[in-house]
Amino acid sequence: MMDEELILLNPGPACTSQRVKDALLRGDLCHREPEFTDLLFRIREALPRCLNLGGTHEAILVTGSGTAAMEMAVISSVREGRGVLVVNNGVYGDRMIKIARSHGITVHEVRSDWTVPADPEAVRRALAEHDDVDAVVCVHHETTTGLINPIKEIGEVVAGSGALFVIDAISGTAIEDQDLAEVRVDVVCGTANKGLHGLPGMAFILCSPASIARVQEVPERSLYLNAASYLKSDVPFTPAVQVCYALDEAIEEFEAQGGFAARTKLYRERAALVRGQFERLGLKILVDERFRSNTVTMLHLPDGVTYQSLHDELKKRGYVVYAGQGQLSNDFFRICTMGEIPWHRLEQLERALGESIEAARG
Ligand SMILES: Cc1ncc(COP(=O)(O)O)c(C=O)c1O
Repeated sequence: MMDEELILLNPGPACTSQRVKDALLRGDLCHREPEFTDLLFRIREALPRCLNLGGTHEAILVTGSGTAAMEMAVISSVREGRGVLVVNNGVYGDRMIKIARSHGITVHEVRSDWTVPADPEAVRRALAEHDDVDAVVCVHHETTTGLINPIKEIGEVVAGSGALFVIDAISGTAIEDQDLAEVRVDVVCGTANKGLHGLPGMAFILCSPASIARVQEVPERSLYLNAASYLKSDVPFTPAVQVCYALDEAIEEFEAQGGFAARTKLYRERAALVRGQFERLGLKILVDERFRSNTVTMLHLPDGVTYQSLHDELKKRGYVVYAGQGQLSNDFFRICTMGEIPWHRLEQLERALGESIEAARG
């Protein structure tokens, strides 16, 4: 029996602090009362700052998982009879395509290998080829492999084309977004329970003035996920009030710890620590060093070790790791250093991982 808490090394939901967990108990509150409006506006005002976006974007909060934010962003950016260009090199790019198709939106795709960052020139060519593109969509950090896409360069290609640039920053929020302030981005999708260290249940999109204007021109494709409804009324549907409390607390904690600069530095330090361990243990990383994120590392399973046996051995030692997705599920596993994780538990990971690999081979 372990005497320390189980550490989640999956890419969200992430471990949270006691303070954030305790916030769930702030008490009952009707979302039509001024206290909730204050809470909501505090969060909406803080989110662009937490992502280093400056004051140009407006936040819309929606109760749901990250996919709700993706779906809201796509369907609220494309006018009737127009299409979306999806920059796709992973499971979440695929999901963007599924979302658009499920709403009957025309999809064009710029596809690249899962281990290769998207090519801005390919996006330029696709925009020249298709004159109906209302939004270009790209995943910033592809959680599938731990790969970072060049959103700054793609944003420059999209700017001036008349299309909105939409990014899924869900697993990079306040972790990887070092360059968001410089990116010409119209819609940013995020969630409470990854780099912000809140609890699952609230997602958001951050919208530029151009995207706010676009929202008014698109058809209502969904009753629940129509961004225009959230601009008209702050809470058109019952929100997860207690999860908002937790997000509010997580944001306060984030700012008290030094905000965006401190959080992203922490993630860089964690990545360096665990990747040193992987190297000493002889574990091979799929993605080239130049393109790696600061959280997810996609590792080859050692010879003679199955994912399930490694997972179970590590769990006995206090850590939850994550399987590969899709075509990578048999030969790879992922370790993600997201959430409130005591430093000493990350230091102890090397021993746990070494012992688990031996035991799993056994
Ligand atoms: C990049 C990215 N986009 C979207 C999602 C979907 O989020 P959710 O599972 O909260 O719907 C995830 C989840 O891990 C993600 O990593």
